[in-house]
Amino acid sequence: QIKRLADYQAPAFLTHSIELEFVLDPAATQVTAISKISRQGAHQLPLMLDGHGFELLGIWLNNVPLTDYQQTDEQLVLSQLPDEFELKIVTQLNPAENTALEGLYLSGGAYCTQCEAEGFRRITYYQDRPDVLAVFTTHIIADGKSYPHLLSNGNLIADTLLANGQRRVSWFDPFPKPCYLFALVAGDFDELTDSYTTGSGREVALKFYVDKGNQQRAVFALESLKRAMLWDEQEFGLEYDLDIYMVVAVDFFNMGAMENKGLNVFNSKYVLANPQTATDVDYFNIESIIGHEYFHNWTGNRVTCRDWFQLSLKEGLTVFRDQQFSAAMGSPTLCRIDAIKTIRTAQFAEDAGPMAHPIRPEQVLEMNNFYTVTVYDKGAEVIRMQHTLLGQAGFRRGMDLYFQRFDGKAVTCDDFVQAMQDANERDFSQFRRWYQQAGTPQLRVTSAQDDALASFTLTLQQHTDATADGSPKLPLVLPVRLELISLDLSYRQQHLLVLTEERQSFVFEQVPANVRAVVLADFSAPVKLLQQISLDDLLFIAANASDGVARWDAMQQIWSDLVRQSVVAAHPVLIPASLLAMFRQLLDQPLDDLEFTAELLALPGFDTLAEQYPQIPVDSILDTLQSFRQQIASQLTAELTRCYQRLPRQPYQYQSMQVGIRKLQSLCLGYLAQAISATVISQKNAAADSDVITQLLQQHYLQADNMTDRQATLTAAVQAGLDLAQPLLLDLLEKDGHDPLIFDKWASLQVSLPTEKVFELIENIVNYPQFSWNNPNRVRAVFSAFSHYNPQQFHRADGRGYQLLASIVGKIDHSNPQLAARLVTPLLSWKRYDEARQLLIQQQLGQLRDQPGLSNDLFEKVARSLS
Ligand code: ARG
Ligand code: ZN
Repeated sequence: QIKRLADYQAPAFLTHSIELEFVLDPAATQVTAISKISRQGAHQLPLMLDGHGFELLGIWLNNVPLTDYQQTDEQLVLSQLPDEFELKIVTQLNPAENTALEGLYLSGGAYCTQCEAEGFRRITYYQDRPDVLAVFTTHIIADGKSYPHLLSNGNLIADTLLANGQRRVSWFDPFPKPCYLFALVAGDFDELTDSYTTGSGREVALKFYVDKGNQQRAVFALESLKRAMLWDEQEFGLEYDLDIYMVVAVDFFNMGAMENKGLNVFNSKYVLANPQTATDVDYFNIESIIGHEYFHNWTGNRVTCRDWFQLSLKEGLTVFRDQQFSAAMGSPTLCRIDAIKTIRTAQFAEDAGPMAHPIRPEQVLEMNNFYTVTVYDKGAEVIRMQHTLLGQAGFRRGMDLYFQRFDGKAVTCDDFVQAMQDANERDFSQFRRWYQQAGTPQLRVTSAQDDALASFTLTLQQHTDATADGSPKLPLVLPVRLELISLDLSYRQQHLLVLTEERQSFVFEQVPANVRAVVLADFSAPVKLLQQISLDDLLFIAANASDGVARWDAMQQIWSDLVRQSVVAAHPVLIPASLLAMFRQLLDQPLDDLEFTAELLALPGFDTLAEQYPQIPVDSILDTLQSFRQQIASQLTAELTRCYQRLPRQPYQYQSMQVGIRKLQSLCLGYLAQAISATVISQKNAAADSDVITQLLQQHYLQADNMTDRQATLTAAVQAGLDLAQPLLLDLLEKDGHDPLIFDKWASLQVSLPTEKVFELIENIVNYPQFSWNNPNRVRAVFSAFSHYNPQQFHRADGRGYQLLASIVGKIDHSNPQLAARLVTPLLSWKRYDEARQLLIQQQLGQLRDQPGLSNDLFEKVARSLS
């Protein structure tokens, strides 16, 4: 059942409206769907409706029972239909047993739905494809006492008490929409209400629904929503279009959140926040995801996708929009660094693995497998490059034309690019290759300076290695931001170069001698930059580039180069004195922007470094990183301690100055903990240092009035394997572990312990009453965290880490295939490891492939990986 983009055909019938009635019951919910349908064009094709996982109770055509139909596993086929008709279908579902969390399911006592991508077909037979847009009316019937909130898309039109004591609530959504945007929620919640008045004067009721007792924890999300609504008006002239906007937080959710028209459903992790439960990073994510789902109302809902191959049309664009929003609310540089890390870890890994695909994939077995970092985050980079090439005003012209042409329609990525191109009278035909080609381009840079001619020549060369999907590799359009700076700083010029050929030289005239080039400032294209620069020059760029991202990137390259030298030498090299001197200076005089200082002082992570090698030298990278942390810690103990102590702590607020203080303190503690970890303790003054540092760590935790600071101590102590970690973790669990989100944090900290004891801890965690195999947040908190944040134990030479993950994936696949298919990701790239590890992982994947009843989700990934 592989589906291909090339096979797209417009729907043979259109559904113009649908009236749904749900009679809710945990094990036997009845759904009546009445649709008005008409034939498109002159043909005698049958109507194909998608549906599975329910019981069909009856079908009526124009009110006459219909018995002449064909039913397959996944479709209902109706032939010999009139050109226009009304179809009534009654189905019965079992939400209580729906552990896949697709379609209608129960989450902690509340009913909720998840229909994207293809979940609506678990509710009723329907044309479950995004290019069929219908007007929805929804009636919900339930016991009013147990389910006081009965919600669906659009505006509330009726609320009546029925004779049997049940309540019947009706909603009408005037905007035609594909069924993936349908939502229903029924439950007993706390409600947080506010309102927002749009620029043109529409008063919008804002309502957040959260578990009882959590009302105040939704305040930050609500405020974020208002900021997002205002920003979209100011930045893009886009206003909200209904009288009500609702957000429901649920604990059982496969993804982050969902943009259902007028009724967003969120993973509670991305709504609930107070200083005791949420970290600075959580606050940041909440604002950004609230923004993301809100921005979908225009980029996704008003203009939607023609087919699922076009997913990046809405996701890439909406991620770009949420990134711009976050940048406007805080620091553009830090937001950019964040996005770059995602690309350089998960996205580069995806490109280099068996699931490589272009941002617009061409073939799909299970659509849920293509909600990927490539479609989302590389998709956003591709939008960003258009923004860079056209400039702010040109990009806005393109967006305006896009909405003018396509409001209310289901369109393609090509339609988007065409609007950008037409609004600016540009030719984007070569640029479109970004939508067709998978793989990470390598950008090689060389330069030559001719002092006699006062000219500077920069040569750029691009190349993309073959990828697993076999897509073509032609030269791409690469916007390359460049800054030329003379060593005495008297000369500084910025340029935007556009590389279109495989190799091109750019000559700059009247350039003084001793100029240094800062290439790919702001990470202006999602590529791997290959350039040979001396340590001195990188330190110069880190200190002097105008672009903060380039300064951070220079530091990252310094560390990458040192790791590479260590890998080649087969032992960790010594950190050069000039680099330590730079650290000293930053620690003694942190910049104004402390969060940025902390980024400058942080080492690249294992997964960033790993993506720089075709064959990942796991042990060398891990040993080297460990050695570097300890060298820094032991050489700069005094500076780190002073820096930590100089930073003032204030009562918690999520505010940039404070976030910077917490992040820099956390960084200092992370290094200091390494100074007293077992392996370096024998060095000079160890005992005295050890007491002081232990005290600092402990006090930091005990005096904290917030989760961010507590987590800083815990992370530092766990990573360094310090004894003080366990009693503090126990303290956290006992005080706050009843809260599911804190339990998740506690579990993730436990599983990052880099020693073999972690396996015992994991066995223990899954036996806690708070843990549930059916809750994706719980499962991810343990097993995703383990495979991503504990490379030492996950990649153990004896294969115990691989075996653990594979066994969990196999188990989860029976209940929640989507979750299983996400968890398996780190195993798919087995070809990137040494021979011994390859064998170990392959063996695990082979067992998974042969598991009876394997889901499509898991099969697609495992089969691709093993082929
Ligand atoms: N459209 C949602 C978002 O990015 C994601 C929903 C994906 N759900 C899924 N089951 N694949 O905002
Ligand atoms: Zn999205």
